[in-house]
Amino acid sequence: MPHDNDLKIEDFHIANLKGLAEKRSKLVHTFGALAELGHEVASRSNFQETIRTSLHLILGSLGIMRGGVARYSRFEHELNMLAVRGLGDSFPLSLELCYEDERQFLTNGLAAIEVSQAAVLPFFQVYGRTFDDTRLELFLPLVIRDETVGAIFLGEKATGEPYTTYDKEIVCAMGRHIGSAIAQRNLLSEIECRSDENRKLYDDLKMTYADTVKAFAAAIDCKDKYTEGHSVRVGKYSEIIGQELGWNAEEVEGAAVAGYLHDVGKLTVERKIINAPYRINAKESAELNKHPAVGFEILAPIHHPYADVPLAAKYHHERLDGHGYPDGLYDRQIPYIAKVVNLADSFDAMTTDRPYRRRRPANEVFEDLQRNAGKQFAPEIVSAFFRGILNELNGETKEKKFRKLLGREYMEAEGLAVSLRNSLNAMTPTSNLTMISTARSA
Ligand SMILES: [Fe+2]
Ligand SMILES: [Fe+2]
Repeated sequence: MPHDNDLKIEDFHIANLKGLAEKRSKLVHTFGALAELGHEVASRSNFQETIRTSLHLILGSLGIMRGGVARYSRFEHELNMLAVRGLGDSFPLSLELCYEDERQFLTNGLAAIEVSQAAVLPFFQVYGRTFDDTRLELFLPLVIRDETVGAIFLGEKATGEPYTTYDKEIVCAMGRHIGSAIAQRNLLSEIECRSDENRKLYDDLKMTYADTVKAFAAAIDCKDKYTEGHSVRVGKYSEIIGQELGWNAEEVEGAAVAGYLHDVGKLTVERKIINAPYRINAKESAELNKHPAVGFEILAPIHHPYADVPLAAKYHHERLDGHGYPDGLYDRQIPYIAKVVNLADSFDAMTTDRPYRRRRPANEVFEDLQRNAGKQFAPEIVSAFFRGILNELNGETKEKKFRKLLGREYMEAEGLAVSLRNSLNAMTPTSNLTMISTARSA
């Protein structure tokens, strides 16, 4: 016969085993929730959704009736609710913290605080009534790497039992995941904000650069009283050519800058040579012809956002047939941007009055450009330029750039659109020189 005491011991063992089994299944359940939470935090890209799901997982895994998750704003000293469940409409969306609360929460770290034991803190005094009304029992400051990033509010358990130490540990483990998700989000926002600031700074810098370039162009043009506005116009024509060639925004900007600055070397040429009211002699011409090389020297040490600007200055008087200066380069040896600026430059020279001659009529100028395509100018650049003008003449562009630069009357020369179209149709897309050199290399 078993002794009474033995029975009690056996009962005790059975109860203990039962308790262990219960604990184990609870543990398995909670760890499942924890794993799910970890996965949720790691995989969801929608932050709000992550927090909402996380709150539901905590409440669900511990059988808690109501609760909420808040994010802490350092600047506003507020806890802003991100997700709530069962707290009712009167629960505030933002809860203020004072300096003392912040200090205490940091000292407390990521550990659950029982609302009923925390009445000494100003936060629980200010919101005591609300917490009572919603029967909040547990408050967990989300302290991650010595920084409060948020808080979790938890109501009573469905069983009505108090939170056990074990429950609190689970809440803390889950809180760590949620806190990390908030901290990560904060970091991301900060990076986004910084990159926004950087972009703004970059835009400001670009604007400063553009203004400086324009100021330089104006300074160059000031020196030459007969070709007033020449650099600015060459910049604008180069920009149009870049657009017509299908370049991207950066490249088009680069073309404009190259045009604005192409004659910067003229700043060192004597004013009387630049402003000579007659055709200059050989000596003066040699002096003037130094301006591309000088321009290159001025521009090369500057860090331009567009690499070819100094090259455009150096080679804008080269010709495809090798009869240009300063180096007498042939077609493919000439940097492309210099070919663009060369056409823009020549076009402006032909279409503006000089002290010793009037500007030439539009039809004549376009005939000249066509005739010299493949000799002085790259044919595809001439075609692009013609297309730009034709688009405007046909009313396909909103801004009437050519009309502004050349005057209405000039652009309305009789038969201009027809002759331009004919020229365009007659033109070969590459220069004869290019074809010859291709044949040679083949
Ligand atoms: Fe020039
Ligand atoms: Fe020029």
